[in-house]
Amino acid sequence: MKLLLILLLIIFFILAAVSFPLKTVSYEIFTDKITKPVRIAQISDLHGEYYGRDMKTLLEAVDASSPDVIVLTGDIFDDVRDNENTRIFLKAAVSEYPFFYVSGNHEMRKDGWANFKQEAADMGITVLEGENVGFMGITICGASSTGDGRLTFDGSVEKCAKEAGNGFNVLLAHYPEKIGYYRSFGKFDLVLSGHAHGGQWRVPYLINGLFSPDQGLFPEYAGGMYEFDDDCMIVSRGLSRTKNVIPRIFNNPELVIIDILPESEENS
Ligand SMILES: [Fe+2]
Repeated sequence: MKLLLILLLIIFFILAAVSFPLKTVSYEIFTDKITKPVRIAQISDLHGEYYGRDMKTLLEAVDASSPDVIVLTGDIFDDVRDNENTRIFLKAAVSEYPFFYVSGNHEMRKDGWANFKQEAADMGITVLEGENVGFMGITICGASSTGDGRLTFDGSVEKCAKEAGNGFNVLLAHYPEKIGYYRSFGKFDLVLSGHAHGGQWRVPYLINGLFSPDQGLFPEYAGGMYEFDDDCMIVSRGLSRTKNVIPRIFNNPELVIIDILPESEENS
């Protein structure tokens, strides 16, 4: 028994020491609501993380996928950590790609959102707080966190739903555990979320995440694609890595790429 414990501890420290590198994770969604493909890159929960000199690793990963647009689904800036890496990445990428940005809980703390959203807007990033924007035949709906920065939106999801048409609607909203609420409007074809950090530890094919904030142990929505009736949610496992108290194990930080494709292209 003692030997087994020692062995488990050794395995743990080896795994913890292993760097699980940035991974690009791709999804395809077919719909009869569009006629031309749209490729979205989702960046979530960056928390000012370092990705090489001048953020080259992340920038090159984005460039390799040539997205039409980048969406930022919250916790891009952090209330405690240094945000210089976030700034370097955004400033470099904003000249190449259109950006849409909603806040997460960390941007809301200490009244940080007013500054972060202004900073992003000054760079040329579109900040969404309950607004919908038409983009290449789809609609991007952005529900920012508001109030105390926890699981509240101060009506921004309702506003998005009310103004959404019958086309392909993509909702950007930081908290995946609120999926029942988002779906209750019957308006959003795709929800893009983050916040769960992949549940920090994974056991591939067995456990999709050990613990996530606001979901607790064995979170239902730790990361990946969740398909419902005619709609779905993609939860990014996020990009924060080195500064977590608990290391990520089998839980690569990820850049998410979503291809929204006309149904006519399915099986063609
Ligand atoms: Fe978060």
